[in-house]
Amino acid sequence: MEKVISVSNLYKLYRVGDSCVRALDGVSFEIRKGEFCAIVGTSGSGKSTLLNMLAGLEKPTKGEVVINGCHIEKLGEDELVRFRRENVGFIFQSFHLIGTMNAVENVALPLNFRGEPRKQRMEKADRMLDLVNLSKHKKHMPNQMSGGQQQRVGVARALVTDPKIIFADEPTGNLDSHTSEEVMRLMQRVVREQGRTLVMVTHDDHLAEYADRVFHIIDGKIVKIEENQRKNEKSQEGGLK
Ligand SMILES: Nc1ncnc2c1ncn2[C@@H]1O[C@H](COP(=O)(O)OP(=O)(O)OP(=O)(O)O)[C@@H](O)[C@H]1O
Ligand SMILES: [Mg+2]
Repeated sequence: MEKVISVSNLYKLYRVGDSCVRALDGVSFEIRKGEFCAIVGTSGSGKSTLLNMLAGLEKPTKGEVVINGCHIEKLGEDELVRFRRENVGFIFQSFHLIGTMNAVENVALPLNFRGEPRKQRMEKADRMLDLVNLSKHKKHMPNQMSGGQQQRVGVARALVTDPKIIFADEPTGNLDSHTSEEVMRLMQRVVREQGRTLVMVTHDDHLAEYADRVFHIIDGKIVKIEENQRKNEKSQEGGLK
């Protein structure tokens, strides 16, 4: 299997006053193309730090992060911006939608940076909203949608640039458990149908069951990597409303 992400001996130390926090303490693993991986651990264990290193949002203190053959720990700020635009999609806990734009405009936003003509941007955004079952909500403003619908707009926006890798940090952290499961099934479905790679941070063991593999992190160390059976093909049942 083709590997997309390869991390070796990754360390991140934060200095706060006189003390030093080892947010990541020697982490190594590989993620293959098409995998859905969950990073699970308690608050403060280093999950977001790890995701930020993988996404090139922060520099490691030591170690390597290789994505599609590119050593991202060696890239400069401008190269990193370009790398992120071309390779990755993000889904955030708090949706990060623009309140003054409707659903389709929000989804089209990442395409603005690419200089694509407006008509093409809107068509792509339109298709993405169909994919996440929001065909009837394209003109709705964020405050006219439920939390789950807003997060599905967030998923559509992460996918619109056709990224090979999607990073999600507690994507359902602001949703109730039923809506969380809906969003998880949606993410599982798009990864499987479109062959994308998804890395998701969660503190919820139950939601991690949707992933193919679960990385358990404690005090900045990966202590266990679990393989899930693809038993949870719940994605086939019922649609999203
Ligand atoms: N910018 C920073 N400066 C100093 N310490 C930091 C910084 N960012 C994170 N840390 C520390 O690194 C450790 C890991 O933080 P991180 O945000 O990765 O945890 P997390 O697993 O994502 O937690 P949560 O579930 O609460 O989001 C914590 O002890 C935190 O206090
Ligand atoms: Mg976090």
